[in-house]
Amino acid sequence: MNEEYLLEMKGITKIFPGVRALDDVDFKVRPGTVHALLGENGAGKSTLMKVLIGLYKANSGSIKFNGEDVNFQSVNDSIKAGISMIHQELSPVPYMTVTENIFLGKEMCYSRSPFVKDNEMEKETDKLMKQLEINIDPTKKMKDLTTAYTQMVEIAKAISYNSKLVIMDEPTSAITDKEVEHLFKIIKWLKEKGVAIIYISHKMDEIFKIADEITVLRDGKSINTVLASKTDKNKLITMMVGREMKQLFPKEEAQIGDVVLEIKNFCGDKFDNINISVRKGEILGLAGLMGAGRTEVMESVFGITPCDSGEVILNNKNIDIKSPEDAVKHKIGFLTEDRKLSGLFLPLSVEDNMIMANIDDYINAGLINQKKIVYDCNEMVDLLRIKTPGLEQIVKNLSGGNQQKVLIARWLLINADVLILDEPTRGIDVGAKAEIHKLMSRLAKQGKAIIMISSELPEVLGMSDRIIVMHEGKVTGELSREEATQEEIMRLAAGIAS
Ligand SMILES: Nc1ncnc2c1ncn2[C@@H]1O[C@H](COP(=O)(O)OP(=O)(O)OP(=O)(O)O)[C@@H](O)[C@H]1O
Ligand SMILES: [Mg+2]
Repeated sequence: MNEEYLLEMKGITKIFPGVRALDDVDFKVRPGTVHALLGENGAGKSTLMKVLIGLYKANSGSIKFNGEDVNFQSVNDSIKAGISMIHQELSPVPYMTVTENIFLGKEMCYSRSPFVKDNEMEKETDKLMKQLEINIDPTKKMKDLTTAYTQMVEIAKAISYNSKLVIMDEPTSAITDKEVEHLFKIIKWLKEKGVAIIYISHKMDEIFKIADEITVLRDGKSINTVLASKTDKNKLITMMVGREMKQLFPKEEAQIGDVVLEIKNFCGDKFDNINISVRKGEILGLAGLMGAGRTEVMESVFGITPCDSGEVILNNKNIDIKSPEDAVKHKIGFLTEDRKLSGLFLPLSVEDNMIMANIDDYINAGLINQKKIVYDCNEMVDLLRIKTPGLEQIVKNLSGGNQQKVLIARWLLINADVLILDEPTRGIDVGAKAEIHKLMSRLAKQGKAIIMISSELPEVLGMSDRIIVMHEGKVTGELSREEATQEEIMRLAAGIAS
């Protein structure tokens, strides 16, 4: 391996009000390698990268890049120096086309004339997409793309700068296995060109597939840097959480009772004739590839989008859900897949985000029971181990994984009988993931019915009592916990009947 470093960050400290996000961190990356950055939610990974690219100013520390001392004042500076970053939070401009999004901010560098040359930019974009083998129409509007394609465009955009260092902050949290393979091909190609990649992910399998070196952060401190070939999953987890973890999927047996929720003959834009039921105490896994229509069905059940036809039966009674408010009244909770757009209110506090769906429970004769709110919210912070300086912290300032936990808290607080969880552990670290799985088990034991949409097969297999698989808007099969295997689910997800 190359002895020289492309990047050397030394003694980086970053303090936010009430939070020491980075504490004297050292981090070094060699050219032409994939360097994974690991750590629990809130460990400081994204912050370290934002300090690097000039988005945040460190309180102390120094950075050397490509042989020179640097101190980027803005993201533009770092891009010019050869660093680009794919952010954890996708930020496409919805009404822009794919081309406009790719060229955003560099229209002028491209065209010498003051007039932006749409045609040429489109051709360039098309070329780039072909080179990366991403099958996409450059004139399409960003808002019409699926999350997976949005992510692929963001990846292409980062690569379009021809950088020496590409930072990928959880690039695979919104894409399926097929696209992950595709991304890995792109990474390999970049490596061959001598580009270095900083890769942030909570998915251990991915890390071992592509990383050359691994650095672990914990509580804002650098714990260790190791060669991927010289370590293993358990060692890394111990470094990350500072203790040994026994079980990744702590599924407990729960008494399975009567059918609570039944969805009958559901037809809509993206799905056709869906029949699904879930019982008291049961965890029903809903598997399938991205775009299989799982989220869309559940959004209709929850009243976010209308369906064309179909019935929802709750405890043997037909119910009419026209809006999420109706659903919440019927004690149905829905953790959305896209937490940024449809779930969280970023400028509001942790507390406000948590109690949003059940605020009525805290109002008695026109008075707000603030004490109970604080009690319940603090309980959630403890239960889910949410890393925040307090309930007043605005959610925007939490790390990605901790934001997800705040949303989970919201749906726990409504005390739902039926919980629909769409990718509940996406972007969540191993320790917290096990906590959430434990919690799901506990809720099932208490008699709640849980529908879990998940694209992670180990999670589906580990947590579900029963699994329904969808493909292109149709149910292609149902498997019991005993008969389910990774291969069988994949086969059904690909639409191949037995
Ligand atoms: N703008 C901000 N203002 C205040 N605190 C912040 C801000 N950004 C991050 N933090 C805090 O700094 C710590 C590190 O956050 P960071 O986003 O770097 O974590 P992370 O390792 O990327 O976690 P995740 O895996 O959840 O994405 C967290 O405690 C977070 O709440
Ligand atoms: Mg992060």
